[in-house]
Amino acid sequence: MPGSSSHPGPPSEPGAHPVAGSPMIQLEAVSKSFGEVAAVSDVTLNIRRGDTVGLVGSDGAGKTTLLRLVAGMILPGEGRIYVGGLDAVGQRSRVKELIGYMPQRFGLYPDLSVGENLDFFLDIFSIYGKERTRRRQRYLGFSNLLPFVDRRAGDLSGGMKQKLGLACVLVHQPDVLILDEPTNGVDPVSRQEFWNILAEMRKNGMTIFVSTAYLDEGEKCDRLMLMHNARILTTDTPARIQAGFDNLEEAMIHRILAADTTLAEDRFGT
Ligand SMILES: Nc1ncnc2c1ncn2[C@@H]1O[C@H](COP(=O)(O)OP(=O)(O)O)[C@@H](O)[C@H]1O
Ligand SMILES: [Mg+2]
Repeated sequence: MPGSSSHPGPPSEPGAHPVAGSPMIQLEAVSKSFGEVAAVSDVTLNIRRGDTVGLVGSDGAGKTTLLRLVAGMILPGEGRIYVGGLDAVGQRSRVKELIGYMPQRFGLYPDLSVGENLDFFLDIFSIYGKERTRRRQRYLGFSNLLPFVDRRAGDLSGGMKQKLGLACVLVHQPDVLILDEPTNGVDPVSRQEFWNILAEMRKNGMTIFVSTAYLDEGEKCDRLMLMHNARILTTDTPARIQAGFDNLEEAMIHRILAADTTLAEDRFGT
């Protein structure tokens, strides 16, 4: 309970309920294991309201687990998670209202049309009447899917499917958007269109936490978190992470090898 002696609550706002100016996402010493595997280990982080933060790192680093924890899909083994100043475990249902989460494999209904898929989400969030029409137009418009409203979702290209997935997650206008490698395997033009939608959401002050394997997308973020072996190695602006290196990829590989002596030995045989 916030304010109790057993737990002081988020350090920036001791004992406070949701407060303007508190970080939008806050993790304190969060760990999560699956059996013997530590997927997330002692992660502490803050994401400010309105920031777009990119999560990067190799396969198996723990990115998906971290995003699922923040989205409230799984519970932490240890530590505290706050979203909008609310305890993500204790106030899970309220926290879920703040969040739009697009998992790595987002489930569209392939036999339903584009419009029907969107309607499904509008129904879930009980959005009816004029507001429903307005949001339908808005998010289909953003994603350039208006001309394809009657097409079966299963017949869309990979990039269009991902844009429809994003539209479905956006219809309830969440404060926080959590996206797990949303553009994986998508062609460059569609990736750019996807990020154009995110740019619109950023203008509206949405907080975005997005994992990506594409470093050109990483460069668009306000801050990047580099994850390796269940831990966050570094958090900084893309420019500061890259400083002194030819590109972001070199800078990140350097940091991973510096943190992981086993990997460095394998690579250089020292
Ligand atoms: N549900 C699960 N059950 C067992 N192991 C898991 C589960 N989810 C993730 N892991 C393990 O946790 C580690 C981190 O996985 P993941 O979070 O998917 O990393 P990433 O998204 O960076 O590839 C991996 O070793 C993975 O095998
Ligand atoms: Mg993953």
